[in-house]
Amino acid sequence: MTNINLEKKHAGVAASELIDDGMVVGLGTGSTVDFFLKALAERVELEHLSIVGVTTSFKTAARAQQLGIKVLDIDDAPMIDITIDGADEVDQHMNGIKGGGAAFLMEKIVAKNSKKIIWIVDSQKVHEKLGQFPLPVEIVPFGSGKLIAEFATQHLYPILREKDGKPIITDMGHFIVDLHLETIDQPHELGNYLDRRVGVVEHGLFLDTVDEIIIGTSHGIEKIK
Ligand code: 5RP
Repeated sequence: MTNINLEKKHAGVAASELIDDGMVVGLGTGSTVDFFLKALAERVELEHLSIVGVTTSFKTAARAQQLGIKVLDIDDAPMIDITIDGADEVDQHMNGIKGGGAAFLMEKIVAKNSKKIIWIVDSQKVHEKLGQFPLPVEIVPFGSGKLIAEFATQHLYPILREKDGKPIITDMGHFIVDLHLETIDQPHELGNYLDRRVGVVEHGLFLDTVDEIIIGTSHGIEKIK
């Protein structure tokens, strides 16, 4: 196992220990979350835990079911007790960028409906300022060229996310534009600007939302809280 994967595993296993019998658990998306899902599935089987998951992507829903974790639609579930999710970049102030896996719209909806939110990351994702990781923005396909041109005029360095020469389509049917900013000095102002743009469905800035960040290290874990 590579060092990064070992760090992700340490974070994922530590998060699995936070889950109690009877909980409704928000299940994030990504490779770090996959370590959490495996550790959680083991606990469900060994300790006969009765939990249900609310998933943040079609991929996580399929994976959770494959691992034997019961999954409920968010609208059929009561309030989510705790959500465990990954992140692409975090700072020491509990802010972060999510969306490398294109699931941040569903992730933000699940987060908004959770009593507690925990992120699990490897140590390379902790930076003093956000922005090294391109900021994903989910936009509606209609008029996307106009919106991307506006972002370029605002010096936000937008690049439409594509695969095999075609825009990728999110689980909710939208495009993703990545803003290559290098550094974000005023995340709240940028978030407010994006929130006000017609055609923007959601952006990957998660500010003041998380309760604790578990950072996997080669030896174990560290926490930001
Ligand atoms: C998906 C996300 C993921 O949580 C993020 O990309 C981290 O993924 P990984 O654990 O694979 O590095 O925000 O939209």
